[in-house]
Amino acid sequence: MNNLIHKIKNRDELTREELSYLLALDDFSKIFRLADDIRNENFGNYVDIRAILEFSNYCKRKCKYCGLNSTNKNVKRYRMSVDEILETVKTAYYAGYKTIVLQSGEDNYYTAKMIGDIVRQIKKHTSMAVTVSSGELSYEDYKYIKLCGADRYLLKHETSDEKIYSYLHSCGTLKNRLNALKNLKSLGYYTGSGFMIGLPFQTLDTIANDILTLASIPCDMAGIGPFIAHSDTPLRDLQNGSTELTKRAVALTRIMLPKAHLPATTALGVIDSKEKDNIFSCGANVIMRKVTPQKYEQYYSIYPSNIKVSDIYKERKILEQQIKNLGRIPV
Ligand code: 5AD
Repeated sequence: MNNLIHKIKNRDELTREELSYLLALDDFSKIFRLADDIRNENFGNYVDIRAILEFSNYCKRKCKYCGLNSTNKNVKRYRMSVDEILETVKTAYYAGYKTIVLQSGEDNYYTAKMIGDIVRQIKKHTSMAVTVSSGELSYEDYKYIKLCGADRYLLKHETSDEKIYSYLHSCGTLKNRLNALKNLKSLGYYTGSGFMIGLPFQTLDTIANDILTLASIPCDMAGIGPFIAHSDTPLRDLQNGSTELTKRAVALTRIMLPKAHLPATTALGVIDSKEKDNIFSCGANVIMRKVTPQKYEQYYSIYPSNIKVSDIYKERKILEQQIKNLGRIPV
C-alpha cells in the first residue's frame, strides 16, 4: 500500500492490477485525500458550472440500460426547433452560464449541417464554449461541426469490456466507439468520455480498465456515474450502481488524469444528493445543470430522476449558493 501511495505522490502511472487493488480497499480515505489534493493543485477552489440542453430524445440506438432506446414505445419523443434551441441557450447565457452542452439521442433528423449552424449561431450571439454530445458521427461530420466552432465533444465509452459492451449494445461496437473518440481527439476537440458503475458482469478489473481507457485517449473530460435501473428497459431488475464505487472511480481517474474535468454526474445525485456534494472532495470539479425547457425535460428520461427544471435564472443562483455552502467558488 505504501509503495502505491508513493507512486501516486510521485505522479507515476498506475497499472490495471494496482487500480483494481485500490478499488477494493477496506479504507479508501487516504486515496480520496490524495485525489482531492490533486484536484486542488490543478483547479484550486473552483467548481465549473455548465448548462446542458437536451434538444432531442429521439434515438436510433438500442442500448439496454437507456430509457431513450428506440424500442421503448412508452416515451413521448420530442425535437426542439433550431429557434427554440437558440432561445434557450441565450437564456442560459444571460443567467450566467459560460458553457452549453448540446445533448441528444442519436437522431438523424439533425444533420451535421444543422448542428454546425446551431453552433455557429451560438458563437455569433454569445461567448459561450460549446460542447456537443450527439453520439457517434463520421469523421467528416465531426470535422464540419468543429469547423463551425464547437469546442468540445462528449461521447462516453460506457464500458471498456468488449463482451459487456456487445451485450449492452446490439447497435454498435466498442471498436467504433473508441475510434470515434480518437477521431474527436485528433480533430482538436476537447474530448470527453466516461463510463457507468454497476453494469452487468462488471468487475473491479473492468473499472480499472475503464480508467486506463480514459487515459489512453487521453480524455480531457470524463463523466463517471452509477447505473440506475429504468423500468422500460431490459435491465429494469438490475440493482443500481454503488455510489461508493463511483466515488472511488472518480478519485482514481483524478489521480490518473490530474488535469481532466470531472463532473459530479447527475445520476449520482439522483441516487443520493449528499454523495453528489461529497464527490467534490473526491476529485470532481464540474457540475452540469439542465436548462431543457420544462415541457420537454420530463421526456428526456435516460434513467428515472426526481430532478426538475423550473426557472433557469433562479436555479443558477441556487446552484451558486450550494457550491458556496461547500466552501467552493462557482465559476
Ligand atoms: N443509468 C445511468 N446512466 C445512464 N446513462 C444512460 N442510461 C443510464 C442509466 N440507466 C448515461 C450513459 C450515457 C449518458 C447520457 O447517460 O453513460 O452516456
